[in-house]
Amino acid sequence: MTGFQDKVAIVTGAGSGIGKSAAIQLAARGARVVVADIKGGEATLAAIREAGGTGSAHQTDVRKPEDIQALVEATIAQYGRLDLAFNNAGIAQHNRKPLYELDLDTWQSIIDTNLRSVFLCMKHQIPAMLRTGGGAIVNTSSGVVPHGYKNISTYVASKAGVDALTRVAAMEVADRNIRINTVNPGFVATPLLDAVIPPGDQHRLSERTPLKKMTTADDVANMAVFLLSAEAGHVTGQSIFVDGGINVSF
Ligand SMILES: NC(=O)c1ccc[n+]([C@@H]2O[C@H](COP(=O)([O-])OP(=O)(O)OC[C@H]3O[C@@H](n4cnc5c(N)ncnc54)[C@H](O)[C@@H]3O)[C@@H](O)[C@H]2O)c1
Repeated sequence: MTGFQDKVAIVTGAGSGIGKSAAIQLAARGARVVVADIKGGEATLAAIREAGGTGSAHQTDVRKPEDIQALVEATIAQYGRLDLAFNNAGIAQHNRKPLYELDLDTWQSIIDTNLRSVFLCMKHQIPAMLRTGGGAIVNTSSGVVPHGYKNISTYVASKAGVDALTRVAAMEVADRNIRINTVNPGFVATPLLDAVIPPGDQHRLSERTPLKKMTTADDVANMAVFLLSAEAGHVTGQSIFVDGGINVSF
């Protein structure tokens, strides 16, 4: 894969799991990476630097519009450009109930974190990319989108919205040298999943997966990095499932 020398990247949710793996990979391939996470992302930045890479950490709460604007502005102030973005921060739905029993706070918090954040990230990132001739964006959706998973309606709706926003945004900038795609992970053993399905029960998820193993954070990050690379130069508006085949097994 061609490297990312001279490229500047933002990765949200880069403090852990999929985002951490992608931030480390992008930096290892030459990008200057802005690690954005509500928890700060210092451990990810340390790993980037230990491997000889370049980056910075920017504490960002993607629920806050002002934080997202500040993240993009700080990136431009520090590095003078923005070429790549992996909008990956997200939360699971802990409050598992049929939608007719769900409270509005649960709805709002998941929509703000998983969907409105992606709208706001792209809203600020696209103009920055246009100023330097283009770029590429990957948004993290989910393998749950095509199916009816009971009791996590808000999570599924938020991620279906990410797929839809991605397609529309991709068409709006396709003739301006910006590509936009999603990665749709299967079950990945990260803190996000561990909090809703205890690690001791996760063997069920491997069994449900046609490839008979769970997806890893690196599996998903590998695809995100590929979609950000020059080799994916003819791919836009797509949702790419990295789920061991689950989405075609129903
Ligand atoms: N783990 C899975 O099985 C799975 C499956 C499908 C989709 N996903 C999606 O993958 C993405 C990454 O999740 P992960 O599995 O790597 O989880 P993770 O818990 O390892 O990482 C998520 C990161 O996002 C950060 N974050 C949470 N809320 C934030 C906020 N408001 N602002 C900024 N950062 C915030 C957390 O601090 C954490 O570092 C999420 O969008 C998630 O919905 C995960």
